[in-house]
Amino acid sequence: MPSHDIDAVRLELLERVKTSETPRDILRAPEFKDLYSAIGSLSAEEKGPYGKSINELKQAVEAAVEERIMQLESGDVISLDVTAPWDVNSVRPAFLPTHEGSQHPLTKEMDTVVDIFTRMGFAAVESRQIDDDFHMFGSLNFPENHPARDGYDTFRTEEGFIPPAHTSTMQNRILQSGKDVLEAGGQIAAISYGRVFRNEDVDATHEHTFHQVEGVFVSKNATLGEMLGTLQAFFEAYYGQSLRIKTQPAYFPFVEPGLEIMIEKPAVLGGKAGEWLEMVGCGMVHPNVLSAAGIDPTQYRGFAWGMGVERLVMLKYGIEDLRHFESAKLNFLRKFA
Ligand code: DAH
Repeated sequence: MPSHDIDAVRLELLERVKTSETPRDILRAPEFKDLYSAIGSLSAEEKGPYGKSINELKQAVEAAVEERIMQLESGDVISLDVTAPWDVNSVRPAFLPTHEGSQHPLTKEMDTVVDIFTRMGFAAVESRQIDDDFHMFGSLNFPENHPARDGYDTFRTEEGFIPPAHTSTMQNRILQSGKDVLEAGGQIAAISYGRVFRNEDVDATHEHTFHQVEGVFVSKNATLGEMLGTLQAFFEAYYGQSLRIKTQPAYFPFVEPGLEIMIEKPAVLGGKAGEWLEMVGCGMVHPNVLSAAGIDPTQYRGFAWGMGVERLVMLKYGIEDLRHFESAKLNFLRKFA
């Protein structure tokens, strides 16, 4: 059998392999038998090269078959969405709820708050959910046994650890880690945000678990005016409108002077003229707080503030009861989905 027959068979078989659903069958194609049976009619000299050509053909077909098998198998792999709440390629099982999950409203709003401050140039760190007396109180200029500690209604573990009652618990760490930047001529600008805990009786305006956002800024010449500008800009960004702020004196051991910032409740959020809401505790960072972090209070000054996130969100959406947030009530949560 002449070699052009082998070439024709090669083309034919390789073509068939490409579209075959059962490519292995092609290894037993009758064409091979025909080629082999032709050997008997060849001369002694022809037999060698002819046999070799058939072997080459077989190898080429085998390789193509392997490739086709791989192709078929990879086609069987279904794309898997690991973020889907069930296997999107199968029928949703009847026992699953018909509503898909959504982010908790506080998570969403916290993202918004963090986003506004990071766009202003503040670094953001998440607050801790377990801490010690030094970070919660000592480093913040609360003397041992000082009555100001009582205002924080802290929980304590048997070992003496504290689930923090405010995000100020991060201040000493932030100040320490920013020392080098200060010394190199820069500034510390950071927020800490997260969950805080207080041992309080729960009612419409008190929860044992809530969220705060804290900010601290330190430079050679930070001023209260910068702080007020920063927070007014924040409120206007968060509520999407211009609004008025005012301050009143307040006492916090870690600032001097200490203030509260109030905002005038916007009319679109149901505010009546002259209705002011306390939103923020703040002030100039106390020299003892800077010293506790190894920052020289004669060289640097800072301002700091802290605010409750639930209060921000309740005002934005007219939510009247703080307990909704931790209640896991789906009717409430779905309004924000
Ligand atoms: N940590 C205070 C609280 O939870 C809020 C606060 C007040 C934070 C003044 C500050 C500040 O950073 O300067 O009541």
